[in-house]
Amino acid sequence: MVSFFKTKYESILNRIFPSGFYPTRPFNLNEVHMDDLIKKAAEDLAAAGKVTALTGAGISTESGIPPFRGKGGLWERFDPMEIAHIDAFMKDPAKVWNILVKEMKAIVDTATPNDGHKGLAKLEAMGKLKTVITQNIDGLHQAAGNTDVIEFHGTFAWQRCMDCSRKYETREVDISKIPPLCICGGILRPDAVFFGEMIPQDALWRSRQIASDCDLMLVVGTSAVVQPAALMPVIAKESGAKVVEINPERTPLTDEISDYLIMGEAGDVMNRIVAELEKISPPAALETPRTQS
Ligand code: APR
Repeated sequence: MVSFFKTKYESILNRIFPSGFYPTRPFNLNEVHMDDLIKKAAEDLAAAGKVTALTGAGISTESGIPPFRGKGGLWERFDPMEIAHIDAFMKDPAKVWNILVKEMKAIVDTATPNDGHKGLAKLEAMGKLKTVITQNIDGLHQAAGNTDVIEFHGTFAWQRCMDCSRKYETREVDISKIPPLCICGGILRPDAVFFGEMIPQDALWRSRQIASDCDLMLVVGTSAVVQPAALMPVIAKESGAKVVEINPERTPLTDEISDYLIMGEAGDVMNRIVAELEKISPPAALETPRTQS
């Protein structure tokens, strides 16, 4: 649809305004299209009462944290079943620590929120968004200011003893000896969900509840291939909510579950949506009575 219109449109433009004749030709159709979608997303947000967001690794790439899949993804370099499955950790915790945990620690310890995270925090401050359901274990939504973040895959901010379950803040863990040990002698592991493990029950239950109760779900930076997280937009859709995707690439949700996809980077897109929302509904007018559970 877009490419037909673009060529048709461009050829008319070229005939009317040969580029030499009208240097600042106003339109790049993708831009026009993106602008329309940004406006639409802001209007949909302004009209929505209960907004939630599902996020994935894509929202943290602009903070220097690599995604898992696609170009430059961790799983391009490592086999996830070799270093991110609970059986692999049980078999050789030192190997998983040396490859995955040390690398993640170095990145997550220094990462800071980007405009994508900050945009969602602004939506909360504007009284529009209440809960962020994140697959990320980097804690950047909380660092950006979101106060209700469901860590669907746990967190990397803490390490947990495999024997006594005592927790240690990752920043404090001395990794000169691998795998690091608890004072009880047990091995420490990230307080995150490895492949082959269950999603924390409260996180799963609350996420399903919020997905079925929201009237707009922003789906930001996820390839939507890992279950059960990728089920949340489906639950939202089935419950009558609008599903708006933000991702530079299409996903299995696009055209199937999501109402529309804004093909762009989370930082830029969130900045533009918030700016548009502030234009159409100045902050004071935005406060809607909270009914969400
Ligand atoms: N802004 C928005 N989206 C982006 C950006 C960006 N700047 N950069 C990349 N993306 C998109 C990619 O196009 C891709 O669709 O983010 C998505 C990242 O996908 P994955 O790497 O598969 O991450 P995610 O969906 O979070 O993976 C789910 O899989 O490996 C497990 O436990 C891990 O939580 C993770 C889960």
